Amino acid sequence: MLKVGLLGAGRIAGVHATAISSHPGSTLVAVSDINTAAAEKIAAQYGAQAHDTSAILEDSAIDAVLIATSTDTHSDLIERATAAGKAVLCEKPVDLSLARARACQKAVSSIGRPVMIGFNRRFDPNFSALKKAVDAGEIGKPELLSITSFDPAPPPVSYIKVSGGLFRDMMIHDFDMANFIMGAPPVTVTAVGSSIVDTEIGAAGDVDTAVVTLTYADGRIAVIKNSRRAVYGYDQRVELLGSEGLLQAQNILENTVVKSTTKGVTGAKPTYFFLERYMPAYAAEWAAFVEAVKGGTPLPVTLEDGVAALAMAEAATLSIKTGSPVSLASLLD
Ligand SMILES: NC(=O)c1ccc[n+]([C@@H]2O[C@H](COP(=O)([O-])OP(=O)(O)OC[C@H]3O[C@@H](n4cnc5c(N)ncnc54)[C@H](O)[C@@H]3O)[C@@H](O)[C@H]2O)c1
Repeated sequence: MLKVGLLGAGRIAGVHATAISSHPGSTLVAVSDINTAAAEKIAAQYGAQAHDTSAILEDSAIDAVLIATSTDTHSDLIERATAAGKAVLCEKPVDLSLARARACQKAVSSIGRPVMIGFNRRFDPNFSALKKAVDAGEIGKPELLSITSFDPAPPPVSYIKVSGGLFRDMMIHDFDMANFIMGAPPVTVTAVGSSIVDTEIGAAGDVDTAVVTLTYADGRIAVIKNSRRAVYGYDQRVELLGSEGLLQAQNILENTVVKSTTKGVTGAKPTYFFLERYMPAYAAEWAAFVEAVKGGTPLPVTLEDGVAALAMAEAATLSIKTGSPVSLASLLD
């Protein structure tokens, strides 16, 4: 039985607490948060203890920690947890700073403990089926990838100000999805963006609507579209055109009823947001982590994957400022 400490007791921590407790091979033993009441609440809910982070890291009976704290704490906690001998699953992104994330990667590689980054969308049953079909050569050679990722409504501007911006906070998932499906990082990243949904987001120095084009060494192209507002719900689709066909992963709808009348044909909206859409993916992500840690097998998502996606976010941020394509290699020298 893998004994687990949960660092952070906010919104996404609740999802992970459920996954850890529901898995037959893991048990949640301790929870920490700088907001003690939040830690106590989740701990009580799952039969765990509320402790401070240092106590969890020093407890030799705890095998693994799941880091679900605010983004600016991730690199520090990954380093502290691995130095204490824990296996780590850390939420995305690795850090707000690429330089800090790379320093963390270097420190962790010398320690040698397993670190997985929480790119849960890789474990979505639809996206993983699409990936299997690509890898099996079912559409020949992939040529053009399109990722659509629209949130139903923008977060408060107070969140935008500490989020690291749309590319590090939101599109980071899509950068990782592109790397997952294409199987290699792009050569260039070109971004355009605007704050057309909420001018306050623009005043805070961020964009709420963006398109990024990725080019690959062998001529493949990917396009990622993000918006902080889609009034009909969480829009999460992937389409891949290959030399012998097309793969499409469509939205999950609230129900499958289609109404056909003299007025037209209508159906249900997509599920509202990530907590509805990706719940099975969070459980599958945790199961994959437990399997790899217990079996001593390679992790399905690595710290290197987290740094690669963050480099693309940094490139997109730079591209918006300069109006030019940014070479990924220039950021990773
Ligand atoms: N993979 C996903 O789908 C997904 C979804 C949401 C959030 N996230 C990521 O998860 C992280 C948390 O997001 P959230 O929405 O749950 O935020 P949140 O603000 O609800 O929760 C963060 C919690 O961390 C606590 N915290 C901050 N610093 C701490 C420290 N040093 N030690 C202990 N606790 C500390 C805060 O008090 C808060 O309770 C972010 O990095 C975010 O990017 C990922």
